Amino acid sequence: KPIFTVGGKSFTAVAINTAAKAGEWIKLKLGAHASLTQKSTPHDLVTEVDKGSETMIRNLIKTHFPHHSILGEEGVAPGADASAKALQEMQDDEYLWIVDPIDGTTNFVHGFPFFSVSIALAHRGEVIVGVVYDPNRDELFVAEKGKGAYVKGKPMHVSGEVKLSDALIATGFPADSRHALPANMKGVQAVAPKVRNIRVAGSAALHLAYVAAGRLSGFWEIGLNSWDIAAGALLVREAGGQVTDTAGQPYTLAVRHVLATNGAVHGELQTTLAEAGATGF
Ligand code: IPD
Ligand code: CA
Ligand code: CA
Ligand code: CA
Repeated sequence: KPIFTVGGKSFTAVAINTAAKAGEWIKLKLGAHASLTQKSTPHDLVTEVDKGSETMIRNLIKTHFPHHSILGEEGVAPGADASAKALQEMQDDEYLWIVDPIDGTTNFVHGFPFFSVSIALAHRGEVIVGVVYDPNRDELFVAEKGKGAYVKGKPMHVSGEVKLSDALIATGFPADSRHALPANMKGVQAVAPKVRNIRVAGSAALHLAYVAAGRLSGFWEIGLNSWDIAAGALLVREAGGQVTDTAGQPYTLAVRHVLATNGAVHGELQTTLAEAGATGF
């Protein structure tokens, strides 16, 4: 049975309730988003629902833990530099909540039902709670450091494929990093012939949750931000998988190029990306 408390306080319960509430609200708003604005480019979108979800999440966390820090995507100026700077300023705080109020905004805008709410809690830079909620399937993915990973309350585990040829691998093309496309393409071109198939479904957090649940053998993406990865990375690790950057270095909150797998295919996938010159941009 999962123990949804850390340090005597029910951090995980707050993360779960908050993600569930925000997710339910987002789902109600599907197809009804009033105004859509571009962030950095026409590919990089934000809606009132992203902002409303983030406000809701911030308020709920603040009610329970007024002294904790919160890093949320929509509280940061667009662009990688502002994101990295915001993280740098907060990453050593005692308790830092890392929030993606809608991961998969492009899908949300188009009515493609694959998006999620991602909430992580880090203690002095180390993720101790990770929650990803998919309101479309009502699936809640939860992990606590050292306590395993769960989907809908049941323990989950990464998949058992050992060879890349048996692997289903996901990737993504970051909305705000179109300059990464050449490296994205090199990666896909090198990986596709070696694996069973590739999926690009548009929510990094949910892709990571699917690796943890054994529905994908692995996932890589370059140019992400801390809020896309933090919760999902803990899910994968607690489900028995492996998370590094695309160069094979250990995962930290600052990682932007992520590789997460069932462990067994990690080395082969990492080598494939490295040989293709697709580990970054
Ligand atoms: C995006 C999604 C998408 C990924 C992008 C992210 P957002 O997050 O995770 O799958 O390819 O890199 O930016 O902007 O929808 O929260
Ligand atoms: Ca975004
Ligand atoms: Ca995101
Ligand atoms: Ca988002």
